[in-house]
Amino acid sequence: MVSRGLRSRITFSCVALLVASALQVTGQAQHSGPQSNRAEHGREFLGLGPVPDLAAAARGQKLFVQSCGFCHGNNATGAEGPDLLRSTLVLHDDRGELLGRFLHTGRPEKGMPAFAGLTDAQSYDIAEFLHARVEQAANRFGYKMQNVLTGNAKAGQEYFNGKGRCTQCHSPTGDLAHIAGKFEPADLQAQFLYPADPPPSKVTVTSAAGQTVSGTLKRIDDFTISMYDSSGIFHSWPRDSVNVEIDDPLRAHRELLSQYTDADMHNLLAYLVTLK
Ligand code: HEC
Ligand code: HEC
Repeated sequence: MVSRGLRSRITFSCVALLVASALQVTGQAQHSGPQSNRAEHGREFLGLGPVPDLAAAARGQKLFVQSCGFCHGNNATGAEGPDLLRSTLVLHDDRGELLGRFLHTGRPEKGMPAFAGLTDAQSYDIAEFLHARVEQAANRFGYKMQNVLTGNAKAGQEYFNGKGRCTQCHSPTGDLAHIAGKFEPADLQAQFLYPADPPPSKVTVTSAAGQTVSGTLKRIDDFTISMYDSSGIFHSWPRDSVNVEIDDPLRAHRELLSQYTDADMHNLLAYLVTLK
């Protein structure tokens, strides 16, 4: 299996680029007030903050998957970076103020990059996603992303078959049949934004002498590339001695990330939850 760490490294540069554009695209996101569709009873008693703004949380999820997910996990429960649902900084945050200030500087010396260009609206959206996740993980009040299922399933189906070109690789009666039974809506959204356990990447390595070996990528970093060829034999080279071509199975998903509008995401999710 390809480790998440591996994927992080492969996609890091691309994702970093994406981040810049994506953060711009969603920069105009509107603040809508907190939704009062859940009882505020007992929130203070349980030490919970304000009710998360679920519309903001949905926008924040997209930003998070794009900009933070490969280090912190798409659902924020940790990967190479820490589990953010246990972060005191997140717990003490109120509407993105503390988080926003932290993200502007990051902790580069500890591997947490600075996101200097993040707007207040974006920090707010990401914070609301994290707050919603904290509550969801604790399962308090039975928080469900269903509350934010405002999309139109029919429009989602059209997007799936048309503009999204999902049918190139998926079928609602084949691999995605019953997908809604496998994931809660919030996790389903994270899955289609950026699937958590992608199949291993195919790689072709060409040496300076022109010799070519193709196979399954094991690991790549700044110094070494390693792989198994088609007969299962392990190979490894110093990174700078060879030319490397990686065929990332999730390329389509990465490209889609910068194309979804908020409406596309809501509609797609509304459609996918019908695949019971
Ligand atoms: C390249 C990997 C990477 C990316 C990208 C990244 N983080 Fe981090 N993050 C880390 C690491 C590593 C730490 C732990 C730093 C430390 O040890 O102090 C961290 C720490 C944090 C913390 C502090 C946790 C605590 O309680 O101390 C928060 C909050 C956080 N990240 C949020 C985010 C958000 C939100 C994003 C996206 C906008 C993001 N991170 C993107 C790697 C990353
Ligand atoms: C070029 C191929 C390709 C395209 C186009 C594509 N996907 Fe994927 N998708 C994959 C691969 C590869 C995976 C990871 C393997 C897997 O889980 O099936 C994946 C995984 C998924 C998963 C998780 C499935 C699971 O069982 O966990 C969902 C949901 C999904 N894609 C939805 C979509 C949607 C919606 C679209 C269109 C907007 C789309 N995909 C477009 C290749 C593609």
